[in-house]
Amino acid sequence: MNIPIFNTYIDQSAVSEITKLFISALLSEGEIVKQFEKQLELVFGFKKCITLNSGTSSLHLALVVAGIKEGDEVILPAQTFVATGLVILQLKAKPIFADIDYLTGNISLESIKSKITSKTKAIIPVHWGGYPCDLDEINFIAKENNIIVIEDAAHALGATYKNRPIGNISDFTCFSFQAIKHLTTGDGGAICTITNKYHEIIKKRWFGIDRSKSQLTELGERNYNINELGYKYHLNNYAATLGLANLKDYHFRLNKRIEIAKYYQNELSKINSIKLFKYKSDRQSAFWLFGFHVEKRNDFIRALKEKKITASVIHQRIDRNDVFGGKNNYLINQEKFDETQIHIPIHDSIDKEKAEYIVDTIRMGW
Ligand SMILES: Cc1ncc(COP(=O)(O)O)c(C=O)c1O
Repeated sequence: MNIPIFNTYIDQSAVSEITKLFISALLSEGEIVKQFEKQLELVFGFKKCITLNSGTSSLHLALVVAGIKEGDEVILPAQTFVATGLVILQLKAKPIFADIDYLTGNISLESIKSKITSKTKAIIPVHWGGYPCDLDEINFIAKENNIIVIEDAAHALGATYKNRPIGNISDFTCFSFQAIKHLTTGDGGAICTITNKYHEIIKKRWFGIDRSKSQLTELGERNYNINELGYKYHLNNYAATLGLANLKDYHFRLNKRIEIAKYYQNELSKINSIKLFKYKSDRQSAFWLFGFHVEKRNDFIRALKEKKITASVIHQRIDRNDVFGGKNNYLINQEKFDETQIHIPIHDSIDKEKAEYIVDTIRMGW
């Protein structure tokens, strides 16, 4: 049995749907993208959802629409993928790295408060592994300080917070549909917003033009007047076709993950040298990852590898990359987290039998 840390899920029906699309040759952005957006709104209960060509472009466009400019400060956790920080640099704004909570990997409220200055314009909480951050508190702090909240929900499609879907809570929520995410379109992303004003601007993700409002003229060109710098960030029809096929039984697949996570929690809680992450009962993780802390991590990884199971830290703190200044930001919990965090496989091809095999292997020790 070979158990990788990630898999790519493609619903069987995608094959015939993609073939039909290829025969139609309508590859670029069209009706199918609109259908995919409608279906996302229906399946997850999103208020407003616009698809884009990646999670990274979703984060970048959210920052642009939020009005982030050169010199502005944007607070984010160091525990994330580099995309979260690079989009800030792309706007010549300044990433300010906050500490995390040791038992979740999510941004710490105390640390956010300590990092706010008169230049802070946005906070990007990252729902590490799919577990929702403390969104009420973050939005409260943001409101008090006139700061915009952009959730990086690349790991959190289908997660809920106090019975609300992640996507309906903050100014912006950005998702990723990259190949190994819960829902893949190959590459892709989406921005959900609760604000009409933002929604109308995000709709112009094709070079700054809202296609639905710019009709072809008799001359054979669209009528438009771009009034702000635009980007080529739209999703295309074949990505949306795959997305639609993969959306069909999303909640069934998600619930399977949640069951596997419960099994892991139950069994691994009995093992002394493992410290599980902490989950509050007022929110539901989407469990893109299943992480915990472990003693003698390298030995743990090797023991699993011998049984053909991959364990991984997934991402290590990003703030020490030279592009972000390469300095030590003295993030105490982050440092502790880095030393012992690990993740074991949880994805669509993990069934009860594989989960038991993983747990049995861990029980044998390292
Ligand atoms: C936390 C986080 N944010 C953003 C991204 C970027 O998403 P994408 O690869 O769709 O651009 C990723 C990608 O894995 C991620 O893990």
